[in-house]
Order: sequence, then C-alpha cells, then structure tokens
Amino acid sequence: MAVPMLELAPQNAAVKAKVLEGLSGLIDRSAFILGENVKGLEAEISAYAGAAHAVAMSSGTDALLAALMGLGIGHGDEVIVPSFTFFASAGVVSRLGAKPVFIDLDPATFNATGALVEAAITPRTKAIMPVHLFGQLADMPGIMAVAAKHGIPVVEDACQSLGAKGWGKSAGQFGDLTAYSFYPTKNLGAFGDAGMTAIRGDAALAARVRRIRVHGMEPVYMHHEVGMNGRMDEFQALVLRAKLPMLDGWHEGRRKHATWYLERMKGLAADEVVLPREVVPEGRHIYNQFTIRVKGGRRDALQAHLKERGIGSAIYYPICLHEQPCFAFLGYKAGQLPESELAAKEVLSLPVYPEMTAAMLEEVASAILGFFGKP
Ligand SMILES: Cc1ncc(COP(=O)(O)O)c(C=O)c1O
Repeated sequence: MAVPMLELAPQNAAVKAKVLEGLSGLIDRSAFILGENVKGLEAEISAYAGAAHAVAMSSGTDALLAALMGLGIGHGDEVIVPSFTFFASAGVVSRLGAKPVFIDLDPATFNATGALVEAAITPRTKAIMPVHLFGQLADMPGIMAVAAKHGIPVVEDACQSLGAKGWGKSAGQFGDLTAYSFYPTKNLGAFGDAGMTAIRGDAALAARVRRIRVHGMEPVYMHHEVGMNGRMDEFQALVLRAKLPMLDGWHEGRRKHATWYLERMKGLAADEVVLPREVVPEGRHIYNQFTIRVKGGRRDALQAHLKERGIGSAIYYPICLHEQPCFAFLGYKAGQLPESELAAKEVLSLPVYPEMTAAMLEEVASAILGFFGKP
C-alpha cells in the first residue's frame, strides 16, 4: 500500500462546502483586502493562542520579518537563532542587515535551551529567536530567564507549532512576539501562503507591527517608516476560519498516531533508531512532524527502503543554516555546532497526518522494523 508523506485533499474536502460558500459571499462583496475575515481570524487566533494581539500576515516568513522590524532590528544587530531549522528563521534576520548568531540544539528535542542561548549573547544581541521545531516547545522557561537577565526581547518562531503547549502555556505566551505559519502543510494550513504575528501584551508594539504590514502607513498615505506589503488575503482568512474549529481534533489525531508509532517501534535499539520524545512538562507536542533519528549512517538507506515500498518520508533539514552557502561569509566551520550537524545527518520525518488509517500506520512501521530485521 502506498503511503504518501502528506495528503491534504481529505482534510480540505472537510471544509470545501463551507469555503465555497464563503468564497461566493466574498466575490459578491468583492472586498478582498483586510476585511471581516482577516479581522475575525485575528481575534480567533488571539483567543486560541492566548496572545493579546494578532496581525494577519501574508506568510510565516513575513510574520517573522514584521516581528523583527517591530523590534527595530537592523544593521549591526545580532539575533540568536538555531542553526537546525527552516531557512526563514535566519533569512529574515539577514534580510534586515542583522547578523544571525547560530546556536546548537538539545538532542532530546532538536530545540534551543537557555544555556545555549546564554553562551551566544554579546553586547550586540538585540533579539533571541527560539524555534519550536516539529511541534514541540523549546526550553522557554530557560530562554525567558536568560532574556530577562539581559533585557533582550524574544521572538518565538512557532511556524510549526500553533497550539503546542508546555509549562501550562501555549506557543506564543512566552516571548514578546510570535510568528505562526499557515503554509498548507502546517497543522492549520491555508489554501496558499499565510501567517500571523502575535504580540503577547505590548499594545504599542502591536500597533507598530500592524503599521509595518501596510508600508508603515498610518493614516492612509502617511508613512512613518519603511514597512512592507505583508497582508493576508481575505480568502486565506476565510479558509483558516473554516478550519480553526477542527484544529484541536487534528492535533489529537496526530498525537494518537505518534503514540501508536512509539509503541509499535519501541523494540528498535538505540543504535538503530531514536524515536521522538515528548519531554516538555505540562506539554502538548502537536507533531507537525514525527521525526526519528536513524543511527549508524543508515538514514538514506532507510529512506530508499521506504521509497521502494511507496512510503513517503522527508528530511527536515539536510543542511544546517550555518553551513548554507549564503551564510559562508559568517565564517562558521564544520564541526562548530556538532549536535545540529549530527541531526542533519540522522533525521527522517514520517507520515503522521490525522487522516491516516491504522493500515497505513502499520505499513510505515512494519517497513521500518523490517529494514532492521524486526517483526
Ligand atoms: C520553523 C519555520 N519558520 C518559518 C517558516 C516560514 O513560514 P512560511 O513558509 O509560511 O513563510 C516555516 C515554514 O515553512 C517554518 O517551518
């Protein structure tokens, strides 16, 4: 049986009628920019994520960019960011003329810790950007303590983690600002690109981000700073509003599958596969990705074995950001961030979308167990 890495059509079918009805009304009104759906979605995401303010953006990347611009990050500034993440986390820092200062990861979670952040702080550090990779929170109590000690703002990259929880809070309830992505493969995915910048409390900061979204303009044709065109479309907002009531159910579906995988594959030895672990207290890993580590240099062979059987998998991420050609000028050396470099060689993400059937899960798990000669 073929098992794709991800199938969006079944989930999107569940909202199709509602979206078509909404689209029909949208065409009738023909008010496509910053209308009632964007406003409604902002209120609903604020409530869902527990943030005081939310500004709907054109993508997760733009949501991160606007967050950094809201903090006034620019030339000569440093932003601490993980090396093992999607490119956008560091790309936005560099686009503003600031320097990404790459940090290593905690091998148990793939995420940053307070200690790793602390070691990277310099007098030029102007922001700290933990990434909640794969759906699990980074060490936010540790990172927030370091940030408070040094008086440095925190931007959470929760692009993979809307609805993830830990220490009794949600992604977005720790830092000053948070970016979410609604790229179609996220647990809450739009029908195209979309994102959101949430502001935990500071109303003036929220107003600035809102202004940055429209070329720094307030009121019309009065430009206080050079912003961007970062607006979310009304259509994407209406799709996301149709889906949001189902999000917790989808998270639970992913969690159920993850729990099943963990039980089914627990016989794999530590020198074969390391399974993901949910280590955050009072946590909810939302498994945007179910990512295993394949030991002994056999990751690519296991991926080929799965592919031969029609089973999809993905490598997030094969190259660390400190080793990307565009950041060569920063002068990082191979071996400098060893845990990140090891993760890039070992990780393999497996299908975990909520609509998977028991037979599909068994197909994936038995193919992996079979590769290691296990029943
Ligand atoms: C960790 C992380 N940061 C940033 C982004 C950027 O989001 P988008 O693709 O919506 O621009 C993504 C998503 O792809 C991501 O996974």
